[in-house]
Amino acid sequence: MLILGGTAEASALARLLAGETWVAPVLSFAGRTVAPVLPPIPSRIGGFGGAEGLASYLRAEPVDVLVDATHPFAARISANAAQAAALAGVPRLVLQRPPWIAAPGDDWHPVPTVEAAAAALGEAPRRVFLTIGRQDLLPFQAAAQHAYLIRSVDPPDASLLPPDATILTGRGPFGEAAERALMERHGTQVLVTKNSGGADGKLAAARALGLPVIMVARRPPPGGETVAEAEAALTWLRAHADARAARGA
Ligand SMILES: NC(=O)c1ccc[n+]([C@@H]2O[C@H](COP(=O)([O-])OP(=O)(O)OC[C@H]3O[C@@H](n4cnc5c(N)ncnc54)[C@H](OP(=O)(O)O)[C@@H]3O)[C@@H](O)[C@H]2O)c1
Repeated sequence: MLILGGTAEASALARLLAGETWVAPVLSFAGRTVAPVLPPIPSRIGGFGGAEGLASYLRAEPVDVLVDATHPFAARISANAAQAAALAGVPRLVLQRPPWIAAPGDDWHPVPTVEAAAAALGEAPRRVFLTIGRQDLLPFQAAAQHAYLIRSVDPPDASLLPPDATILTGRGPFGEAAERALMERHGTQVLVTKNSGGADGKLAAARALGLPVIMVARRPPPGGETVAEAEAALTWLRAHADARAARGA
């Protein structure tokens, strides 16, 4: 089994599969994070070389089942996974956390892209808390009038930063009280984030502080059989393995 990871859900599935004898899983990382938290199952790091490369890997190992547990905003690898699974004739399961839904008291401003999020900040200078990861910061150079507090797992490349940027590194999830204290300390006026979903206190903190949130919406999900949690993926994978065994495959 190949699990495409880089998410909390992929790591949770790896923990559930550790020690299981009916499966030989490998967890794959893109290699973006400097010090990934290594799972208790075998892992590999680095790209496959597009959909064709991934299909070759699936055939060569060989892989019997592919789990796409990548981040909801990692669109290229999910498209590659769908294409490679079809090319290699390998069943594919998508493990993807559901999006956040606005709650009463939220002041969300949905936008389709990170570029639109930068534009939505408006002309007047604001103090912005930016939590979209470190790869998509370039569009905010075009909104240089704002003061940014930028949080990411690893420090961003300096060439991507807007002029007034304070960098904070850390790996979530972050609790509501700590997020609220952080936003108060920095005088945050607006939060910009992607609709990643999952456990996170920043949205509740923004609600409590009455702050607007510019929310980058998800693109359509990759399609195919999809579950939202690692436990449900395990159930699906067991059933799949049992069916294979019954067929004598
Ligand atoms: N985008 C986000 O906001 C975000 C947030 C948190 C975590 N992540 C994780 O970070 C990784 C990179 O995200 P991204 O948005 O840069 O992805 P992406 O744009 O969809 O993928 C770019 C390329 O990175 C390689 N790749 C991506 N995930 C891989 C994996 N799990 N194993 C091996 N190769 C992988 C593939 O290279 P080849 O074509 O050479 O195979 C892919 O074509 C993903 O694993 C994702 O789960 C992303």
